[in-house]
Amino acid sequence: MENVKKVMLTGDRPTGRLHIGHYVGSLRERVRLQNEGDFDEMYIMIADTQALTDNAGTPQKVRDNVIEVALDYLSVGIDPTRVSIFVQSRIPELFEFTCYFSDLVTLSRLERNPTVKAELGMRKFGESIPVGFLTYPISQAADILLFGTTIVPVGEDQAPMIEQAQEIAHKFNITYGEAFVEPKIMLPSSESCRRLPGTDGKAKMSKSLDNAIYLRDDEKTVTKKVMSMFTDPTHLQIDDPGHTEDNPVFMYLEAFATDEHFARFLPEYKNLEALEEHYRRGGLGDVTVKRFLANVLNDVLNPIRARRHELEKDIGKVYQILEEGTAKAREKASFIANIARRKMGILYFEDRKLQEKQQKAYKKLHEQEEALAAYLAKNKKD
Ligand code: TRP
Repeated sequence: MENVKKVMLTGDRPTGRLHIGHYVGSLRERVRLQNEGDFDEMYIMIADTQALTDNAGTPQKVRDNVIEVALDYLSVGIDPTRVSIFVQSRIPELFEFTCYFSDLVTLSRLERNPTVKAELGMRKFGESIPVGFLTYPISQAADILLFGTTIVPVGEDQAPMIEQAQEIAHKFNITYGEAFVEPKIMLPSSESCRRLPGTDGKAKMSKSLDNAIYLRDDEKTVTKKVMSMFTDPTHLQIDDPGHTEDNPVFMYLEAFATDEHFARFLPEYKNLEALEEHYRRGGLGDVTVKRFLANVLNDVLNPIRARRHELEKDIGKVYQILEEGTAKAREKASFIANIARRKMGILYFEDRKLQEKQQKAYKKLHEQEEALAAYLAKNKKD
């Protein structure tokens, strides 16, 4: 398959506003890929159906976050003329193929998925695991495969989903004939971007832990959150030597601070290495570092906030962007779906060749029956 198009697809569950962890982990990367222009097609999915797999009782929460996530995408600089932003639930082909794909995957394979396992543990479903939740990796494979996706930029936790999609593509292609591309994962480029801890130093930013800095937090809120951040607990006096590794303040700086930020906000230091060196040596207070981080974050977030503010004035237009993106996405998914249905031989009404083949078989059958009847009739007479 040498001439396949370069197609990028990724997405998010609309269960909450996006935070700076999402920004460094994926959003910033998506904007970079968009601007580099290497892909023939780019899709970003708002995975509302997947969000419902563990929010079935609160569709309003999912609904409200569809627009929040769309606003976040557009405000970080995703350009809807280059990227189709679409809503998962409006592409019926995805659910049709989730069904066919389910026949190619075993229950034990699903139960081995480490990300699903971890999520099941956190969600405390007990014995009452929704079927839709356990099987969402199959649905996610449809999300990826129905667009002919070659590259899926996601975080490490999504690796098992991409593997599942590769397996399903392979299984489908050898069972029915080639219809799907086996997609490849693309992980965030630098270590500091793969995992941004919460402001409290806990492994992940989340709403429930109240340790996240959101893209739409205002300047004051960001500064307040940064000034109360967890740092190195052994760095008690300014003169004490400090630790920069596993120190969230420095991890954030690694993800965000540029030399230009130093020139503008903290010219005593040339770059992050110089600042880190001083912190480790002792004599550098946390407040100085935090003030700098607050400046850096606000500098990065200001243009994002400004764009969001403009977009929030015309919500109807944002929905129109989603509707147009969804129409484009549907066109692609239905094209690939038809190729796959043809390979499966289930295009009952449209597939003339299959109809002709069946017609020939019937014709042959009738001829044999007639020949047999004539033979028997002749025998009887003789
Ligand atoms: N599972 C992804 C997440 O939790 C969201 C998602 C749904 C997705 N469908 C996708 C990501 C397809 C990449 C490709 O963030």
